[in-house]
Amino acid sequence: MIVKLSNGKEIPIEMHKVRIVQKANLLSADERLKAIEEGGYNTFSLRTRDIFLDMLTDSGTNAMSDNQLAAMMVSDDAYAGGESYYKLADAVKDVLKFNYLLPVHQGRAAEHLLAKVFVKPGDVVPMNYHFTTTKVHFELAGGTVLEIYTDEALNTQSTFPFKGNLDIQKFKDIIQKYGSKKVPFIRMEATTNLIGGQPFSIENLKEVKKFASDNNIPLVFDGSLISENAYFIKQREKGYENKSIQEIIWELMSYADIFYLSGRKSTCVRGGFIATNNKKYFEDFKVWLPVYEGFLTYGGMSSKEIEAMAVGLREMTDINVAGSSAEFVKYFAERCIEQNIPVVTPPGGLACHIDAKRFLPHIPQSQYIAGALSAAIYIASGVRSMERGTVSMERDKDGNEVYADLELARLAVPRRVYTMSQIEYVVDRLSWLLKNRNLVGGLKFIEEPPVLRFFFGKLAALDGWGKKLLDAYKRDFGTGY
Ligand code: F0G
Repeated sequence: MIVKLSNGKEIPIEMHKVRIVQKANLLSADERLKAIEEGGYNTFSLRTRDIFLDMLTDSGTNAMSDNQLAAMMVSDDAYAGGESYYKLADAVKDVLKFNYLLPVHQGRAAEHLLAKVFVKPGDVVPMNYHFTTTKVHFELAGGTVLEIYTDEALNTQSTFPFKGNLDIQKFKDIIQKYGSKKVPFIRMEATTNLIGGQPFSIENLKEVKKFASDNNIPLVFDGSLISENAYFIKQREKGYENKSIQEIIWELMSYADIFYLSGRKSTCVRGGFIATNNKKYFEDFKVWLPVYEGFLTYGGMSSKEIEAMAVGLREMTDINVAGSSAEFVKYFAERCIEQNIPVVTPPGGLACHIDAKRFLPHIPQSQYIAGALSAAIYIASGVRSMERGTVSMERDKDGNEVYADLELARLAVPRRVYTMSQIEYVVDRLSWLLKNRNLVGGLKFIEEPPVLRFFFGKLAALDGWGKKLLDAYKRDFGTGY
């Protein structure tokens, strides 16, 4: 919830109490440099004990509610027909209005099944923007991902409220060029992750749905961040100010033929599912579920997580849950802007995104700007962010580098986890880093995996810039904390 203070300033206020905590650890700057060097300048290689604030992701790292934890205690572990499944199915019916449910172990497993059932070699899959795992699965099935975002989507200094919108004209052009038979479905990702958690509007979704239906193309909705997208519609779309998050979700769902999510985000658990009202789609997915995931009534998830997901799904319709991350992200981004730290605007869901090209204008894109910034943020603060730029891209078939549209360092704000003073600390260290940015240099790969290289790749700092940054930090902060 946003409250107005007596000085007129608005701040996000937590509508929950913290009753269980996890101890955090802040290493000295010397130790931080050692950890990132050993980890190949890749923040994925760090251990929790090396990290002060873990802002790598909001995936599976959100604070669960007391009711979610309580529900876990009564889970039913039956291999087939477990009661926990039916509780989740009821929640899916109530919150999303889908009658058929297929749990999977996490979001990418849903993408794998989608690819298996729908994508054939030579197909093209249009979408408002790709996500790393989505693209890999659809390409492994022989398809090509076509991103058809609007011109405003890649503008990191925008005021446009719906940068996640799909460009309908480009959709029409694709049908014209390839014919609708080559398009197994159109995918809409709620709050497009890789371009800064940017939502689409209901107006846009309606148009996408109309054109897709006219061409017999099913609409697949990636709802991993559905409550955030609904929250932004309430904040930003005319005519929706007085609708509840639940009413907005119902309307969003009325346009979706197939829904899937990573439950690790909006629903604050670890798992995922596919849901639909189309019996044929359900049957097509169902045959493959036990092959790749598990029996229909658990789909690779722990029954405890299924119980917690049933509760989390209902809880995400509470505006104070739906807005819990987005409001902190907005505060975080606004504080950064006050310090001239270049962030993606408007602030989106899931994270405060730093525009690495503007933060480190002296580093060429071939030297992995966002990766360098992410490593530098860790050295300067102990805070773990995630590279969302060229390191997160795949090379093309000939082995050439494919440069990312945007070079972002993503500082995720998991739901209900961090406090305002922790955000203030991050902003302060980012501000210090900005003043010392000339000390940060580029990176080069020393170990490069062939697929999703951002997870396990190892890089090195060109000209050993890490040590120079460390020395400057110790000069200004003494002990190194
Ligand atoms: N779709 C979206 C929009 C996502 O953000 C993610 C994951 C997935 C699908 C895949 O789901 O991880 O449960 O298999 N995003 C995480 C992130 C990994 O850090 O943003 P998953």
